[in-house]
Amino acid sequence: MCGISAYIGHREAYPIVINGLKRLEYRGYDSSGIMMYDGNKMIISKTKGKVSDLELITDEDEVRKVGNIGMGHTRWATHGVPNDVNSHPHYSQSGNLAIVHNGIIENYDTIKKELIARGYSFKSDTDTEVLINLIEEVKKTEGCKLGKAVQLALTNVVGAYAITVFDKEKPDEIVVARLGSPIAIGVGVENKEFFVASDASPFLEYTQNVIYLEDEEMAIIKLGRTVKVRRIHDDALVDPIIQKLQMSLDQIEKGGYEHFMLKEINEQPKAITDTFRGRMLLEENMIKMSSIEDNLDKFLNANRIIIIACGTSWHAGLVGEYLIEDMARIPVEVEYASEFRYRNPIITDKDIVIAISQSGETADTLAAIKLAKSKGAFVYGICNVVGSSIARETHTGAYTHAGPEIGVASTKAFTTQITVLTLIALKLGQANGSLPDYTFKKYIQKMQLIPRQIEQLLQIDEHVKSIADVYKNATNCLYLGRGFNFPVALEGALKLKEISYIHAEGYPAAEMKHGPIALIDENMPIFVIATNKGHYEKVVSNIQEIKSRAGKIIAIVTEGDTQVREIADHVIEIPETEEALTPLLTTIPFQLLSYHIAVMLGKNVDQPRNLAKSVTVE
Ligand code: M6R
Repeated sequence: MCGISAYIGHREAYPIVINGLKRLEYRGYDSSGIMMYDGNKMIISKTKGKVSDLELITDEDEVRKVGNIGMGHTRWATHGVPNDVNSHPHYSQSGNLAIVHNGIIENYDTIKKELIARGYSFKSDTDTEVLINLIEEVKKTEGCKLGKAVQLALTNVVGAYAITVFDKEKPDEIVVARLGSPIAIGVGVENKEFFVASDASPFLEYTQNVIYLEDEEMAIIKLGRTVKVRRIHDDALVDPIIQKLQMSLDQIEKGGYEHFMLKEINEQPKAITDTFRGRMLLEENMIKMSSIEDNLDKFLNANRIIIIACGTSWHAGLVGEYLIEDMARIPVEVEYASEFRYRNPIITDKDIVIAISQSGETADTLAAIKLAKSKGAFVYGICNVVGSSIARETHTGAYTHAGPEIGVASTKAFTTQITVLTLIALKLGQANGSLPDYTFKKYIQKMQLIPRQIEQLLQIDEHVKSIADVYKNATNCLYLGRGFNFPVALEGALKLKEISYIHAEGYPAAEMKHGPIALIDENMPIFVIATNKGHYEKVVSNIQEIKSRAGKIIAIVTEGDTQVREIADHVIEIPETEEALTPLLTTIPFQLLSYHIAVMLGKNVDQPRNLAKSVTVE
């Protein structure tokens, strides 16, 4: 949560910092602020609201835009409501130091009381203002430079942070540090300029050279010098690894679409093709995944697989459970990472944990991984963001290769996670003989068709839009599915909730009669997945039950279906495939439906209220 963007060098810092913040708004967008150093003084502008609101303030006074050093912040509030005062950057009491911070300082209250006793006063309710004053106090009492003061202060801090600190008495350097929240440092030619950000997107057009700080590391970034990295707690110097960025600018731009979410929905055929690349070898009748092959014994001898994730990734995990148990006959449990980490779970070294995360930064998932590792489990990661904390914390894993996902509502990340899980299930099923050769072959042949089938499905956008128009004013919706499509029902409901703020629930279709049926009346739209091979007759009976209570039925069916078409108010057809592969198709109309309803209601599709793309607080 929260995005940090900073610059020190020879260019005008303002446009770099502001554009960087715009690219990071997916991380939080309830308030924003910048500090510009004009060579003489620090000017801080901050406001409740988005970066575009911040620009309005700075436009009023051009002086606020001047200088070659600047840092900015886009916030997702933790301590203190979103308002101008609580927005970052924060000054120290003397006005000499400024900070932007992503994370939570858990012991801020104790530190604050100590600082108040020493004469400090505070303007905001934030933990961040406490931290910058602690740094100032350490600097004063120890008589040290900024870097040392940051280091000493952080050894007294409990919590998580990514920080950037500037001292106007040392205006040729900035100090950054991380624990639990990401920090990327872009290195310009001959160290003449540096960029700091929560991910590398803000400086893509300026440099391809990036250093990702590890947890408990800090860096002193000084113009004309190489970046000096050291570990915070034992002071050991670290040789920073400069990596080449793999991202391109067009991946993080809207490319003609009105919203990132729509772009990302439409990118799914390509994203899944990229997930297949080098893994799906049709002619050889095999799936190649070195992360599984190198650890095959562990997988085949595991007592069970535990999948941990949050939100949409948890829904993908549920599909994974159905796939792996069905195809590879290995027991699977799926847990919310946030529950798993605190419920004292039984984990042994015979368990394999699969952690799924688009961002690779979700705090609960990361903590659950650390717990599983400490109990001896082998941990496999499925992440989208290359080099993310989860990708680095897991023993091995597979990237989804979906490309940057910027819309807060997850779309292509979900389908590519399911794709990786399907590949794993097929691979394990083939390896342990649970899948006969002809079945394996049939699956990979059908799997290969999925990107083209999604392209075909995307053509029915206008039809889905017309259904969205009918139900856009609903206040409650039900989503029903069975088997492989039960998690898709959960995901469909989540998509609608998060971007249109319409209440929606997903249920296994057969559970409807154990409670939700009481909600059904003529005002209730019910979205039902009724694919032809998945308990079709049972789902048809559920649809009849809805019909007799006057509920409105919108059914997703397999092309050519006639039976459901006769009963339902609307049908959406998906192309024919194996039932186990249908989640990759049935999910598409739900994504489009949520998207269109949210647009029709005038909601902010890419940045829904209260949410953030990357949840780095627990
Ligand atoms: O980055 P992660 O996959 O770990 O994120 C997990 C959830 O926060 C995320 O899937 C969230 O539920 C999405 N906004 C849903 O669209």
